Amino acid sequence: MLLHFLDTQVTCLFHEDCILPCSFIPTGAVVIHWYKQQIPVHSYYYNKDQFGLQNKHFSGRTCLFNLQIAQGNASLVLRKVKVQDRGRYKCYTSTRKGNQETFVNLGVKG
Ligand SMILES: *[C@@H]1O[C@H](CO)[C@@H](O)[C@H](O)[C@H]1NC(C)=O
Repeated sequence: MLLHFLDTQVTCLFHEDCILPCSFIPTGAVVIHWYKQQIPVHSYYYNKDQFGLQNKHFSGRTCLFNLQIAQGNASLVLRKVKVQDRGRYKCYTSTRKGNQETFVNLGVKG
């Protein structure tokens, strides 16, 4: 039997801040990559945010809950949501126990 994991649906108001939920089972060091389609939105590894590959559309508008990453919280904050932010986001996490991908569908209204 195939397991189907439904995308999480999130709707945010235009120009407000938005949380895209993601969690993982914490086991030490973690690599987190958020993508929209193939576009790099936010990365975290070596215990810090990594902005080298971030697409400029998201520049200065993203952060994680850094104090809660060790507890398995990889949720993304996207500030001042734009209409073009609508779409499907992937949360990729990797720990020594394995990799995980979950998806969030972001809608923008207002
Ligand atoms: C992550 O932490 C934030 C801030 O405390 C909280 O609002 C959010 O619900 C948490 N998300 C998950 C998936 O644990």
